[in-house]
Amino acid sequence: MTDRSKQTDSPGHRLLDFAVDLRRDFHRHPEIGMREKRTQKIIRNLLKELKIKHRNVAGTGVLGMIRSGKPGPTLMLRADMDALPVTEISDAPYCSVNEGFMHACGHDAHMAVLLSAARHLRETGIPRGSVKLCFQPGEEGFKGAADVIRDGALRRPDVDAAVGLHVWRDLKVGQIAVLSGPVMAAVDLVEITITGKGGHAAMPHLSVDPVLISAHVITALQSIVSRQVDPLDTGVVTIASVDAGTAHNIIPEEVVLRGTCRTFRKATRKLVRKRVEQIARGIARSMGGSAKVDYDEFLPATVNDPTVAALVREAAEAVVGKKNVVPAEPSMGGEDMSLYLNEVPGCFAFVGLRNEKRGIEFPHHHARFEMDEGCLAVGTDLMIEVTKRFLADSRPV
Ligand code: NI
Repeated sequence: MTDRSKQTDSPGHRLLDFAVDLRRDFHRHPEIGMREKRTQKIIRNLLKELKIKHRNVAGTGVLGMIRSGKPGPTLMLRADMDALPVTEISDAPYCSVNEGFMHACGHDAHMAVLLSAARHLRETGIPRGSVKLCFQPGEEGFKGAADVIRDGALRRPDVDAAVGLHVWRDLKVGQIAVLSGPVMAAVDLVEITITGKGGHAAMPHLSVDPVLISAHVITALQSIVSRQVDPLDTGVVTIASVDAGTAHNIIPEEVVLRGTCRTFRKATRKLVRKRVEQIARGIARSMGGSAKVDYDEFLPATVNDPTVAALVREAAEAVVGKKNVVPAEPSMGGEDMSLYLNEVPGCFAFVGLRNEKRGIEFPHHHARFEMDEGCLAVGTDLMIEVTKRFLADSRPV
C-alpha cells in the first residue's frame, strides 16, 4: 500500500483550515465538564449552518443526526467536549482566556475533527443508514457518557457501533494506533477510613495509632499487584492521598486514604477489590483499629470489539498508509467511552499528535500540552473513512 500520509488532497486536508479555526476557538475558550455552554452553542450553530438535525443531550452535550434516507446501520461518532482545571502556559495567540482552565487533553481537537467529518459527510452524503454525531460533555471525571446514554442517545435508531478517537501524545503526528480488545483500564476509586483511638503522642500505649495502621495498610496494598494478580495480567493500586493528623504531638483518631485501582479484566477487577477490602480491614483489626472501605467501581475498561477494530484499522491504513498504523500499548488511564462500548460494539482509536522538532511533546494534562494540528486532518479522514466503510452497501449488517 502506498503511503498516503503526505497527500494533501484528502477531505481532512481540504478541511484543515476549517478544523484548525474551530480547534483554536475551542482552545481559547475552554470549559470544565458539564458546563460546556459556549462550546455547545458553537457546535449547535455550526450544525444548524450545515443543516444537520440535532438536539441537546446530557445538559451541555449535542447529538446530531445525518440520515441517508436509505435503510441501513447506524454508526455513532463520538467526541468529548470538556477542558481541565489547568492554567495554560503558552505564547500561542489562541491561549486560553479562561484563567485556570485549559484544553490540556485534546478534546478541542476531537470536536474540530468530528465537525469537519460531519461537514464532509453532510456535503457528500452517506451510502445508507445514518450517522449520529455525539458531542459528549464531562469526560474528565464526570462520567458524561452515562448521562448521554440515559438521554437515549444509543436508541431511536439503535446504534450498531460507536467509534471515537483520542489525539495521542505517545504517537507521532501522521500515525494511528488501533487496538483490538482492552485499550484503556477500568477505573475504581477507593477511600479507606482507618479509625483508631486518639491521644497524646508521648503515650502511644494509651492510644490506637491510625497513622501506623495506615502505613502498614499502604505497604500491604502494594502486595496485591505483585503477589495476587497474575504476572501476565496487569493492574495498578495507587494510594494517592493520605489525610492524617493535625500536630506533631497528637495521635489522631482517624486517617483517610484515597486512591485508585486500575485493571483490564473483570475477574482481576473483582480480585483487586476483594483484596483491598480484606487487607485494609484485616490489618486495621489486627492492630486494634478498624477500617471502612468505600469502593466505587467508577468506569469499566474500554474494550474494543475485534470486528469494529478491524474495520477501523483498515480505514486507518487507507488514511495514513500501513506503515503508519503502529502498535501501541493499552493505557492504564480511563475513558468513559467505555460506557458506550459496554452497550454496543465499537472502537476507540489513537491519533498521533507529537512533533519533537517543534517541541510538541508535553504529556496530556500538562500546562504546556500542545498538538501538531496536522492531527486534525488525519482524525477527520479517519472518521470519514470509518463511516464510508461501516455504511458501505457491501458490508453485511
Ligand atoms: Ni482525554
